[in-house]
Amino acid sequence: MRKPLIAGNWKMYKNNVEAMELVRELVPLVTELQDVEVAVCPPFTALADISRLARELDSAVSLGAQDVYPEEEGAFTGEISPAMLKSLGVAYVIAGHSERREIIGENDEFVAAKVRAVLDSGMTPILCVGETLQEREAGEASAKVQGQLEADLAGAGESEVAGMVIAYEPIWAIGTGKTATPADAQDMCSFIRSWITSTYGDEAAASLRILYGGSVKPDNASELMSMEDVDGALVGGASLKAPDFAAIANFKQDT
Ligand code: PGA
Repeated sequence: MRKPLIAGNWKMYKNNVEAMELVRELVPLVTELQDVEVAVCPPFTALADISRLARELDSAVSLGAQDVYPEEEGAFTGEISPAMLKSLGVAYVIAGHSERREIIGENDEFVAAKVRAVLDSGMTPILCVGETLQEREAGEASAKVQGQLEADLAGAGESEVAGMVIAYEPIWAIGTGKTATPADAQDMCSFIRSWITSTYGDEAAASLRILYGGSVKPDNASELMSMEDVDGALVGGASLKAPDFAAIANFKQDT
């Protein structure tokens, strides 16, 4: 049984004080959840304080980072290493988010290096893949996603892939209010799982968690989460409000 993961990607929102307030508000709302894992991925600047606060509150909320630089240490001005994140208690690291691919210009080779570095440091990558609207309309969505999987997972072994998280995030659904239909989300998540089966075997495919991301809100979460191959959500906008994010994490209440 795969434990669903509801992860909040705060992007470049919330200064340190606001971030702490959000966590203080969120923790009591998700504390009763038994069989769902909740994670927050705040900006780097809030990680240390949130890590401390989460310990203080004895919270089960996991900590994630939004990015990482794939080197142990060195002259890389402005970058953050896997070990720096790990030492703060970070469990998850997002790699290959479409905003970094499209706005910052990260390519698959760089994303693959990040996945490798996160695995090597004992944290769990949340690898984001997904197609543009143009690619979807041209019937190229699966080919795009498969290409990203092939490139970004190059060098990862079967047991590593088994413990990973992949987030299917159609670019046209991110921050737009347009959500993929539950059937479309299921189709792509199932395609991803089949590809994992044929590349890494049944066991890896059975334990790997596949999230859907793109305008997940309290009112569409439970339907999306009810899909067989959707094991959770990567939530942007709605993760910035504790009641909304908690309602998404409580999706089982609606089913
Ligand atoms: P959104 O963002 O929920 O605001 O669409 C999702 C994401 O970018 O991970």
